[in-house]
Amino acid sequence: MKRSEDWWKSAVIYHIYPRSFQDSDDDGIGDLNGIRHRLGYLKWLGVDAFWLSPVYPSPMADFGYDVSNHCDIDPMFGTLKDMDLLIEEAHQKELKLILDFVPNHTSNQHPWFIESRSSRTNSKRDWYYWKDPADDGGPPNNWISRFDGESAWKWDEGTGQYYLHTFLEEQPDLNWRNPEVKNAMLDVLRFWYDRGVDGFRVDVSYRVMKDPDFRDNPVNPNWKPGMDRSFRLIEKHTKNTPDIHMFNRWIRETNDEYDNRVTIGEMNLTVPELAAHYGTAQQPEFHLPFNFRLVFSDWKAENIKNLIKQFEATLPEHGWPNWVLSNHDQPRFASRAGLEQSRNGLLFLLTAKGTPTLYYGDELGMQNVAIPADQVQDPWEILSSGLSLGRDPERTPMQWDSSTHAGFCSESQKPWLPVGPNRDQVNVKTEKQDPASTLRFAQQILELRKENSALSIGDLILLSTNNPILAYIRKSGSHQCVIVMNIGDQVHKIDLAEAIDKSDCEDIPTEDLSVMISTEMDNSTTYDTETGILSLRPNEGIVLG
Ligand code: GLC
Repeated sequence: MKRSEDWWKSAVIYHIYPRSFQDSDDDGIGDLNGIRHRLGYLKWLGVDAFWLSPVYPSPMADFGYDVSNHCDIDPMFGTLKDMDLLIEEAHQKELKLILDFVPNHTSNQHPWFIESRSSRTNSKRDWYYWKDPADDGGPPNNWISRFDGESAWKWDEGTGQYYLHTFLEEQPDLNWRNPEVKNAMLDVLRFWYDRGVDGFRVDVSYRVMKDPDFRDNPVNPNWKPGMDRSFRLIEKHTKNTPDIHMFNRWIRETNDEYDNRVTIGEMNLTVPELAAHYGTAQQPEFHLPFNFRLVFSDWKAENIKNLIKQFEATLPEHGWPNWVLSNHDQPRFASRAGLEQSRNGLLFLLTAKGTPTLYYGDELGMQNVAIPADQVQDPWEILSSGLSLGRDPERTPMQWDSSTHAGFCSESQKPWLPVGPNRDQVNVKTEKQDPASTLRFAQQILELRKENSALSIGDLILLSTNNPILAYIRKSGSHQCVIVMNIGDQVHKIDLAEAIDKSDCEDIPTEDLSVMISTEMDNSTTYDTETGILSLRPNEGIVLG
């Protein structure tokens, strides 16, 4: 095993959706050179690494998650040379670059699938899942696609068999039980590691190993019409199957052939379930199995306290938590939790114990953008019509300035998705100049994290406070900070001295504490050092140190 520095523990990862970050070649779609021109911004903001959603050649049926060549760059995003330049310039600026690896499926236009589909005897036939019809002539089992909730099996007229597709029919599932597939895909990781990338986010990693016996999934008794149709079944045999740990270890072992790289698994699981994806100290799996609990829980103090407790209770000794607030598949935090709480969301993300992944634009308070019916792009919206499952609203162009296209692309070009109507106020240029903006708040918290190891790698001690107050201490050696958030819309008084006294951290002198930063970006928070009584305004969050 090669050298493994734990840079990913203290790092903040910034998630870029490449189509939407910065256009540099005037086609209304973001690209690699656009990202490279904005590295200075990432540096100024204070993040340490960035992850790019897929930029490989793709027919774009699922906007790049349908890969037709794993070892090249789609011309829409640039060239391999542009990627090399991006890696080089990122490293010069001491930024790490993480790519997306899509192991569960390829595009139906990938040469492997074209071969596999060409005949039953083709040498790549078994690289995908091909099955005869069931006795009644229908699909081989009851598995359904995530996107439309209809059969996950597509009939192939040419060869008279069905193939499996967990997502779109344009995304056939790869058969990782075939050693040739496994080797070819692990070589893809090596191809990019050799070029210098610092890690991978592994797309729907927990879906890769299916039940080897292809048993039917049980019916979900709680499903009702009007709900996402893919929830009609409980996915017992199609995700998080017992064999998934074998896959996780293949990824990790390949990663560990290289120095200092990171693996992040995408999985929508509860904290105790995802804890198993860290593996053991002897057989480690993902460094960071993505934790989406903040994305799927209501933003309430009691929920967050429970999540913190679950991490403390279930994480293996070698495991390190991580937190995600928004991503390209779910509504943005500021739309889910409300604008008033958006700074508290950032405050928690950036001061909780664990590696944060910050979705582009969340640092500005960007919100979901309503997409007119004739501008819908996402296949999920089209296939699930009427259920509003589409993901375009959270994928709109990054708002750099207040111009018509927010500085994302030139004025003469139409951006691939509409720009948020709030770009006048919510944009990098305006917010950089406003000392009280959300962007300046995020940047200052990131600066505090860098100066204070308690905030990046310290232990977390949850304080006992009444809801809607969330309070915790971060502590590393002699460094310590206290974070307190009012996740409610009324003024609240908190006896901080008492809360700290009751914790395991009685050595924190509350009389010496002072407010380092408030979500209000002013000096008006009332904290009485003599009594230890803190008063928080509605929706206010602070760091004391
Ligand atoms: C993951 C991606 C999502 C994509 C799906 C299929 O969930 O985040 O965007 O559509 O996998 O690859």
